[in-house]
Amino acid sequence: MDVYEAVRSRRAVRAFTAEPVSREVLERVLSAAAWAPSGSNIQPWHVYVLTGEPLVELKRRAGERVAAGDPGDEREYEMYPSALKSPYHERRSAFGKQRYGALGVSREDQETRRKIAAQNWNFFGASAGLFCYIDRDLGLPQWADVGGYLQTVMLLLREEGLHSVLQMAWSVYRKTVAEVLSPPGELILYCGMSIGFEDVKVREDHIGRAPLDETVTFVDSLAARLPQGEVPKWQSDHT
Ligand SMILES: Cc1cc2nc3c(=O)[nH]c(=O)nc-3n(C[C@H](O)[C@H](O)[C@H](O)COP(=O)(O)O)c2cc1C
Repeated sequence: MDVYEAVRSRRAVRAFTAEPVSREVLERVLSAAAWAPSGSNIQPWHVYVLTGEPLVELKRRAGERVAAGDPGDEREYEMYPSALKSPYHERRSAFGKQRYGALGVSREDQETRRKIAAQNWNFFGASAGLFCYIDRDLGLPQWADVGGYLQTVMLLLREEGLHSVLQMAWSVYRKTVAEVLSPPGELILYCGMSIGFEDVKVREDHIGRAPLDETVTFVDSLAARLPQGEVPKWQSDHT
């Protein structure tokens, strides 16, 4: 698969079939993803992959908490700043509108929205789940490294005919995840990832992106960026 096609066909898939994902494929993807870059090559990701019985058990335990209306564990990091400023606030609202609008659920119907969101803790029916932890002593640049690594995993999954969705939602029930995985105490759960074959009967439209000039600035003319009348130094030196 062409890299552009992998990037364009990756999207957050939230409905999977029960078809199993083989260990061989998962190993191939994760071995290749290990080539993702990281500052000074420290490779700050700690990954757990669940299939079979452990996955079923985790879903059962998380499902019990969801059914009991459990609000979740004390958070170890903030998913979003409490006051999300413009333009992020508007983009987040547009996402909620598209996702729940497509399912015919209004903004006021919080109960149905909660039920839909609860699918997170069932891995949206996927037959494989991945958890990514990071050492709590590491900083923002290393969290960014982990993001690049996870995107690499998701693109490689496309080559294998698989889909995925990242899930910060799993951090809400991080203690239940830890019961099943027993990670070392120095690790923080960043997110989960559902991995599997898309259930094409439940396909959602892919959400759009901001126009290029909202997020990218090409800087190819110095004069255009200097205060009017100021001569670039290299020019004044040579006249
Ligand atoms: C770090 C991260 C965490 C996410 N957590 C969740 C989540 O908990 N549940 C969910 O349904 N989607 C989650 N998503 C998916 C985003 O909503 C999705 O990537 C975004 O809306 C863009 O859509 P696309 O991935 O289909 O292009 C997450 C994405 C990222 C990058």
